[in-house]
Amino acid sequence: MKNDFIAGYAKITEDALKKYMPEGDAAQKKLYDAMNYSIFAGGKRLRPMIMMMTAKMLGKPVDTVLPFACAMEMIHTYSLIHDDLPAMDNDDLRRGKPTNHKVFGEATAILAGDALLTKAFEIAAKYGTEYADSDKVVKAISILAEAAGSEGMVGGQVIDIFAEVEDLEQLKNMHALKTGAIIRASGVIGAVLSGADSEQINAIDSYCYNLGIAFQIQDDILDVLGSEESLGKPIGSDAENNKSTYVTLCGIDEAEKLQKEYIKKAKESLEIFENTEELSLLCDMLVNRKA
Ligand code: IPE
Ligand code: IPE
Ligand code: MG
Ligand code: MG
Ligand code: MG
Repeated sequence: MKNDFIAGYAKITEDALKKYMPEGDAAQKKLYDAMNYSIFAGGKRLRPMIMMMTAKMLGKPVDTVLPFACAMEMIHTYSLIHDDLPAMDNDDLRRGKPTNHKVFGEATAILAGDALLTKAFEIAAKYGTEYADSDKVVKAISILAEAAGSEGMVGGQVIDIFAEVEDLEQLKNMHALKTGAIIRASGVIGAVLSGADSEQINAIDSYCYNLGIAFQIQDDILDVLGSEESLGKPIGSDAENNKSTYVTLCGIDEAEKLQKEYIKKAKESLEIFENTEELSLLCDMLVNRKA
């Protein structure tokens, strides 16, 4: 995703993460190294970006959501570290580098994931109120927790791993949880912290829901048609693990057609807002992405 404003949001995220991540010569330095290794390995910073773009669209400075944007990226990064473990997708490359467990060993990789997940809530609770009212921060923390857990991302991962997916409806449900939940929460938290009303929150939620499914369809397509070099992760992982994906269930052409429909719905959800350029452009960039 090469675009100046995209790079700008990624840089804001990286700089803020540097402020919040633990480092130094503590007894648990190995853990800090493993956490920092994965969080600073690159990554599109999509979820922080959605949160900041939402705040900006609603007329608020991006700082309003910065601790939560970092918390979200910590949770996402933890999910990737665990997703790559031998017990899960058993992948060796992530964000263009050897996966966390390949470098630090499985025990440390599991613990680095645990620590990132926990650090996320520490940062959100400790620094969130520097930028937003505490009632909004409490609501945002609750949204974050729900999206990350058994009714969200972790729930979706379990459905994915145990392949209880035989038709498109079940697949959509799995995608909506494993990928969609934290993408939705990114937009909704951005809206809540920016003081949006319920109509605006629902519209952002719908934008993110549709964007999230379209995003995971692209991830499924790239697992077949992408290249390891530009993706920074292995291709063919889904087939190797016998995963049901949009490609296996309906083929590339139909998957692309469905993806376009989700993108159309995402854009329609923005109709009640002004200043929608960035979120609209993000839709196009995500479906055209090769990385
Ligand atoms: C990868 O997410 C996992 C999925 C949910 C498809 P991203 O494609 O956002 O990964 P990074 O953060 O850019 O590495
Ligand atoms: C993982 O989905 C999504 C989460 C980590 C929650 P995938 O297994 O499809 O992600 P990649 O393809 O390894 O990035
Ligand atoms: Mg997986
Ligand atoms: Mg995977
Ligand atoms: Mg994938």
